[in-house]
Amino acid sequence: MSTVPAPGQQSSGQMPPPLSRPNHEVTPLYGEEFAADPYAVYDRLRKYGALAPVEIAPGVGAMLVIDYRAALDLLHDPATWSKDSSIWLNNVPEDSAVMPMLRGRPNALFTDGETHARYRKVIADSFGRQEPHEMRRNVQEVADSLIASFAADGEADLIGQFARVLPLLYFNRAFGLPDEESELLIQGIMGMFDGKTPEEAAAADAAYTRYVTELTQLKQREPGQDLTSWFMQHPAMLSAEEIVHQIVLTLGASYEPLSNLIGNALSRMLVDDRYYGNLSGGALTARDALHDVLRNEPPMANYSAHYPRRDVYFHGVWLRAGQLVLVSYAAASTQSGRSAPGESTGAAGSGGGAHLAWAAGPHACPAQQPALLIATTAIERLTAWLSDIELTVPYDKLAWRPGPFQRGLVSLPARFSPVSPDSAGGKPWKRSSRQSG
Ligand code: HEM
Repeated sequence: MSTVPAPGQQSSGQMPPPLSRPNHEVTPLYGEEFAADPYAVYDRLRKYGALAPVEIAPGVGAMLVIDYRAALDLLHDPATWSKDSSIWLNNVPEDSAVMPMLRGRPNALFTDGETHARYRKVIADSFGRQEPHEMRRNVQEVADSLIASFAADGEADLIGQFARVLPLLYFNRAFGLPDEESELLIQGIMGMFDGKTPEEAAAADAAYTRYVTELTQLKQREPGQDLTSWFMQHPAMLSAEEIVHQIVLTLGASYEPLSNLIGNALSRMLVDDRYYGNLSGGALTARDALHDVLRNEPPMANYSAHYPRRDVYFHGVWLRAGQLVLVSYAAASTQSGRSAPGESTGAAGSGGGAHLAWAAGPHACPAQQPALLIATTAIERLTAWLSDIELTVPYDKLAWRPGPFQRGLVSLPARFSPVSPDSAGGKPWKRSSRQSG
């Protein structure tokens, strides 16, 4: 059944409020209350039906799709829905905090049709050339280097010292640079996503631009077996500028969600004895934890920014051409119930049931298998070396990052029996004599 009436067809639906001017009932998807318990907010929004009016930054309104069926209808209908934000951008303050996630760029995420298909194929084909065993080896090595940096301390913040750095170290290698070069990338990306002041953001932006420029110049001169060279050699023949845009997208698109996937899964494992109760391991695996997170705590909570190509009547609501509509993967996937950490698996619980954590349709994440491989390997490596990790803060006191798009922890403070690097090589370290036994 189409939810879009034919031109001229009458409907009893109400026209939405003017663009970007929220009505008085609009619900914020930012701030401490939302970060502390977004699922309570989604539950309150369900009274609106399939779509709810929200505010994603002060003064910036959007319609949020919270119904699973409606989300699929939108994501699979590019004839009605475009990723082109240009009309909407005319009505939004340039300095809004959400602009970096919504301002269009000539890359796969913000384009439609053939242009999108061309960019996406370059990314997907290049990722397809990565050998799984090579990927696993690289993740193990970067994981080991991070674990070695805190293993002897007996305590660490598993977000700041592990989950947030590992994707950058991995992708620095995958794009073809030696580990020494990762500092500029870390400085750039972390500063852009985590920077507190405009000056920090500007410095980070400059570092990131320098990183990508130097990377592409180097690979132009000296191609190798890496993502950058494969982007450049792809038969789609992207221009130098197009390549820079797809690299920037790929690094940006992988950083936050992959960090959050690793961090959210670790946090669930550490409060659930079924995973990690004793030295011989639990009944559930890292993969189970990752699927639990995808279903119940998706790392990207709300995104898939789309704009109707014309005024449409969609699942009970009139929407205007060019209006911002976001999909809540978190609300749609948990419409029929949700497992909190440590709760038993059920039909609507961990692992079971469909979810939208990767979105769906033409823009669905093209890197699902690589992302799962990286996250699984990273977690397995950490829990293999540090076999008795426990949280030092109760789960319900952990702080979550603010903002409408992501679901990820600020930090994950943990302790464990210290282990020391093994200078003899082979296994990178062994249990410290101070603590073993
Ligand atoms: C290896 C790590 C990852 C890479 C390289 C990557 C890359 C990408 C790229 C290039 C896109 C744009 C695709 C397009 O528009 O055609 C995308 C979309 C998306 N990715 Fe990923 N991704 C990664 C990990 C993740 C993770 C861990 C999640 C969450 C579980 C995720 C969720 C999404 C979602 C929801 C979209 C759709 C966004 C939208 O259309 O607005 N990705 N990803």
